[in-house]
Amino acid sequence: MSVTHTLEADVLRRQDPQLADILLGELERQSTTLQLIAAENYTSPAVLAALGSPLANKYAEGYPGSRYHGGCEMVDVAERLAVERAKALFGAEHANVQSHSGSSAVLAAYAALLRPGDTVLALGLPYGGHLTHGSPANFSGRWFDFVGYGVDAETGLIDHDQVRTLALAHRPKAIVCGSIAYPRHIDYAFFRDIADEVGAYLIADAAHPMGLVAGGAAPSPVPYADVVCATTHKVLRGPRGGMLLCGADLAERVDRAVFPFTQGGAQMHTIAAKAVAFGEAATPAFAVYAHQVVANARVLAAGLAAEGLVVTTGGTDTHLITADPAPLGVDGRAARGRLAAAGIVLDCCALPHGDVRGLRLGTAAVTTQGMGEKEMVWLAATMARVLKGETESQKVREEVRELAGGFPPYPG
Ligand SMILES: Cc1ncc(COP(=O)(O)O)c(C=O)c1O
Repeated sequence: MSVTHTLEADVLRRQDPQLADILLGELERQSTTLQLIAAENYTSPAVLAALGSPLANKYAEGYPGSRYHGGCEMVDVAERLAVERAKALFGAEHANVQSHSGSSAVLAAYAALLRPGDTVLALGLPYGGHLTHGSPANFSGRWFDFVGYGVDAETGLIDHDQVRTLALAHRPKAIVCGSIAYPRHIDYAFFRDIADEVGAYLIADAAHPMGLVAGGAAPSPVPYADVVCATTHKVLRGPRGGMLLCGADLAERVDRAVFPFTQGGAQMHTIAAKAVAFGEAATPAFAVYAHQVVANARVLAAGLAAEGLVVTTGGTDTHLITADPAPLGVDGRAARGRLAAAGIVLDCCALPHGDVRGLRLGTAAVTTQGMGEKEMVWLAATMARVLKGETESQKVREEVRELAGGFPPYPG
């Protein structure tokens, strides 16, 4: 089944051509430009089919076998399947698959373990902490007392000495490890030791690396953290959504923190799509994909460094790269605009060394398309041509269109 086919054949085209045009326009954009946003990917047609299924109609407050609403016999099976697949995929004793997003999952983890006013130690926002790790603009910064650790200004690596010093000084109720922009593996054993030393819970916000964990291409936080929060999109390649993993001892607290404490009825079409994605992520093909994501990111990072960009930490262990384009004469914001005009879509982000805006990019989506190291070499050189102003963005846009045309995300 192809997405174009679905849309063209679908009633949507007849009933609401205006919206059908918008969807097809987005499909065209995703098919003719390169998606290097580190948090994005292309879900499979099977995941899209589950999202667009009649399960979207069903109200299902509660958990399988214990719902407020009637008629839940089929969605109960879907949710149990998603839970069992998540537990098997990540080797967890308990999984909750109802969180509507990664942020909702983090909120539920805090609700399960903390009380308002508690102290929490997390990576500071300027160093790659997420909004839910203490931003004053977010519930987390308003309801908890966040202390931020940082990264070494020279190496860009998490400053473990500082983490320990801050943990001993502030005695937090929870320590959060996880980031929106950290390109290296996180040393979960280190964080577990510190948490034990100060009597804190350890919460791993593994939204970014969880797909790599599923494919065996990154270490798992599950054996170390009290609660693991993650998104089901990003490298994991499922629908937009969140999930929580924990031991049996915390299962009831986590479930009650999701529903009824922070959410209402579960979105059963999304839960079904999560089940599909977990099934896909358990296949040998997904393990090959996850390792290729990392191999591609390493080649891309090396290529960008060779072109003169300053790549944070000197490379990557994951799908994610952050880099300062300043040596090419352009700051992060201008670089993002120039690259977007050329059809290369990525983000700006704060860089660890001071108040600098750099670029954040990832290889999850282009790897799903089937691109490999050869294309990453081309991409690094092409990005440098654009940033140095050597080639008109419009000319590169045509080259990008041609490359993308050879790797359709939804063939047919
Ligand atoms: C580490 C981390 N936590 C939480 C989130 C939030 O996920 P969502 O956008 O689904 O709320 C993200 C998303 O990028 C993330 O990277």
